[in-house]
Parts: sequence; C-alpha cells; structure tokens
Amino acid sequence: MILLLVVVLFVAVPCSAQISADIDTPYQYNTTLMNNDYTLMWTILDNTTIELAIVAKTSGWVAFGLGNSMNDADTMTGYVDDNTQQVIVIDGYSSSETQPDSDTSLKGRNDVVVFNGKQQNKQTTIKWQRALNTGDKKDKVFLNSTIDIIVAFSTKDKLSNIHTKKQQLSINFFTGEVVLPPDWKEMTHGILMSVGWGVFIMGGMLIARFCKFMGHSWFILHIIVNVIGLVATIIGFLIAIVMVKDDFSQSEPLSAVHSWFGLAVITGGISQPLIGFIADRLYDPDRKEIPVWPDQVHWWVGRIAIVLSIPTIFMGFGILKLKVVYWVLYALWLAGIVGLFVFFQIKGIKPHPTKKPDEMTMDDLPKSRSIEAI
Ligand code: HEM
Ligand code: HEM
Ligand code: HEM
Repeated sequence: MILLLVVVLFVAVPCSAQISADIDTPYQYNTTLMNNDYTLMWTILDNTTIELAIVAKTSGWVAFGLGNSMNDADTMTGYVDDNTQQVIVIDGYSSSETQPDSDTSLKGRNDVVVFNGKQQNKQTTIKWQRALNTGDKKDKVFLNSTIDIIVAFSTKDKLSNIHTKKQQLSINFFTGEVVLPPDWKEMTHGILMSVGWGVFIMGGMLIARFCKFMGHSWFILHIIVNVIGLVATIIGFLIAIVMVKDDFSQSEPLSAVHSWFGLAVITGGISQPLIGFIADRLYDPDRKEIPVWPDQVHWWVGRIAIVLSIPTIFMGFGILKLKVVYWVLYALWLAGIVGLFVFFQIKGIKPHPTKKPDEMTMDDLPKSRSIEAI
C-alpha cells in the first residue's frame, strides 16, 4: 500500500522538479538564432538521452521541433504561466501550419517527463530531457547526422497564438554542427553566379565557337549573351562584397579559396569585352593565322575563366552546404553543356577558319567569322 502511494505520488508530482530551472552547468553545444532572441543549448547525456534548453527573449511560449516544416514535425512547446509561474511543456506533433497537437491526443505518448523552466525580465528558459529515440510513433529520432529542425517563439503564453519569430535550420546534435539556411544575399549571389556563368557565359562561348554559320549575328549574340552574364557577375560580386565581413581573408579555407578563385574568374570575365573589342577592331579578313594578341588571348582568358568558374561554383555550393539534389542538377546541366561541346566538336564544325575568303570553298562558308566579311 505504501509502495503504491509512493508510486502514485511520484507520477502525480510535477516532474519539473527533477532538473534545476537554471542554466547552472554549461551545455555541450549551443547556437543563437533569430537575431539573438533565441538560444538553443544541448548536451547528449548518454547513449540514450539528450537534454536541451531554450533561452528566449519572450514571456510567451517557446518551441522546438524535429522536422523541416510544420507539416511533419515532432515538437516541444513550453511556457511559464505568467500568473502562476507554473512550467508547462507539451510533447507534440505538427502536421500543418496550425497549433501542434499533443502526442497524447494523437494516440502517441508524452515522452517529455523531465523538464523545468523559469521566466524573468521577459526572458523564458525551458529545459527538458528526452530519449534520443523514444520509440513513440509521434516522435522523431535524434540521429547522429545533420537533421532538420524548426524553432519558434511567441509573445503570448496562449498556445493558439501564432509565433512572433520562426526559423528552419539543420543541426548535428552529436557534433554540434549547425547549418543555417542561406540568407537572401548568399542565395542571390549564388543564383546570379551559377546562372551568369553556367548559362550565359558558357552559352556565349558555344556561340563564338560553333555558331559562325549564322554570319555576323554570332558576334552580336556573343556580345549580348556575355554582357548579360557579366552584368549578373558584377551584381553578384557587389553582393558578395557586402555580405562578407572579412573579404578575401576568411579563416575558413573553403571560403577563402572560393573567394580567390572567384576573384580570378571575375577579373578574367570583365577584362574580356575590352580584349574582344580590340580583336574585332584589328580583325583582318586576309589574315593567314589567328593572332595570339588579341584573339587567342581573348579565347584563352575566356576558356580559363570558364573552367575556373566550375570549381568556384561547386565550392559556393559547399560553403552553403546545399542539398545533394542541387549538386546533381547543376552537374547534369554542366554535363549537358560539355555534351553539346563534344557533339559540335566531333561533328567537325571548325571554329576558326584561317583561309582567305577567296580561297574558301562552300565548305568553309558556314564556319567563317562573318558572312559579310567574305
Ligand atoms: C499556434 C501555433 C502555430 C501556428 C498558428 C502556426 C502557424 C504558422 C503559419 C501560418 C505558417 C506559415 C506562414 C508563415 O511563414 O508565417 C508557419 C510557419 C512556420 N512555423 Fe508555425 N505555427 C504555430 C506553431 C509553430 C511551432 C510550435 C513551431 C516550432 C516548433 C513553428 C515553426 C514554424 C516554422 C519554422 C515555420 C516556417 C516553415 C514552415 O513553413 O514550416 N510553428 N506557422
Ligand atoms: C562582351 C564583349 C565581348 C566581345 C566584343 C567579344 C569578342 C569576341 C570575338 C571577336 C571573338 C572571336 C575571336 C576569333 O575567333 O578570332 C570571341 C571569341 C571568344 N570569346 Fe568573346 N567577346 C566578348 C565577351 C566574352 C566573354 C565575357 C567571354 C568569356 C568570359 C568570352 C569568351 C570567348 C571565347 C572563349 C571565344 C573563343 C571561342 C572559341 O572559338 O573557342 N568573350 N569573342
Ligand atoms: C563563378 C561563380 C562565382 C564567383 C565568381 C564567385 C565569387 C565570389 C567572391 C569573389 C566572393 C568573395 C567576396 C569577398 O570575400 O568579399 C564570394 C563569396 C561567396 N560566395 Fe561566391 N562566387 C561564385 C559562385 C558562388 C555560388 C554558386 C555560391 C553558392 C551557391 C556562392 C556562395 C558564396 C558565399 C556563401 C560566399 C561568402 C563566403 C564567406 O562566407 O566568406 N558563390 N564569391
């Protein structure tokens, strides 16, 4: 009977007393998010349990969820009641962009039984422990890999009140690695550069090399397409300068190498219009061979910049830790361009006719620099 009483009391007493409400021992890892308004800390206690803590600048609810969106997330929502100071923590599950349901209301189990928290000066601390793998069907597992999470907080205790701030990110809870989604500057820089070079400037190279059959139009197209690519490059570069604090002296080797390769690519690219313009001015239809300066210099600066742009782009993907699907799609696109190049090359379109116009046969005609010049 006494034993039964002890068991009943143990279950009925709020479990919040089991860990202190303060952050008295430092956590193994932490990350500060949402403009310093929300700090997440955690320690893997043993092979089976993790302790997490949220310290947020709010007196409303704070939340954490395993999953990449509210459409499928294993959530923990907690708050300290403004009136009673009682700490409420709910092991929940979110399947849509509305207030998450508690696991127990979904025929799951409450697996957050050890928790505590406090609220002071409009700052809320919620700490909780749970099994890395609870086995509950409404819970997800803290895997030893980079997993997607969502975090949010509200200004009100009322759980039906929508968040003031929310964010998606990825964390490896075992190594402490935190991967934030790219911000708009990084995204814009990445898109401008990968499209500017991968589509326009590479396209401009294919036009110059294989589209001379078009007559003078190849030249106009080469200029238009390359100028579009270069405008994207210049805007992308300006954005990079604004977004990077330690320009070209980054301690992260991948960032530093990307930046220096990028600078080489950009320098090559923006010197090309001038060299190309000189090549056009000095063009002599009677020439026997293609001069090294400026024509071949223009080709080789262009070719080297294009080849260097490929590792630069993939390094950018690496810095932003883009998902594998982006790597695969971009690699497939580049493979398509290389495929086109090889196809035209094998088809025997000679890119650089050197015969004098009056020595040319009809065979040479489509490959000449400009029909008007013949
Ligand atoms: C009353 C409770 C909640 C309501 C009504 C709500 C509602 C919404 C709505 C309408 C959106 C999409 C529009 C927008 O971007 O603002 C959204 C997005 C989001 N919510 Fe909530 N939410 C609630 C609770 C939570 C909780 C507890 C978390 C974290 C565990 C969370 C995390 C997020 C995140 C990260 C996003 C952006 C990504 C996504 O689309 O999922 N929300 N929420
Ligand atoms: C926008 C101004 C540009 C002008 C006026 C221009 C002009 C020219 C001219 C006249 C040629 C033909 C040379 C010849 O066959 O004798 C040429 C070829 C070439 N251009 Fe440009 N160009 C420009 C921009 C660029 C840019 C930005 C790049 C790349 C970064 C580039 C890469 C190339 C390459 C690789 C070839 C040689 C293609 C080949 O036959 O393999 N050009 N360009
Ligand atoms: C040919 C293509 C590219 C060029 C020429 C280029 C050029 C540059 C340059 C010059 C910087 C350094 C700026 C500075 O230190 O002030 C930089 C930084 C950066 N680039 Fe690119 N970039 C290219 C493609 C990409 C792509 C495709 C992505 C991502 C998808 C990307 C992401 C970044 C990021 C995240 C940084 C900041 C690195 C840091 O944290 O220090 N870049 N880029």
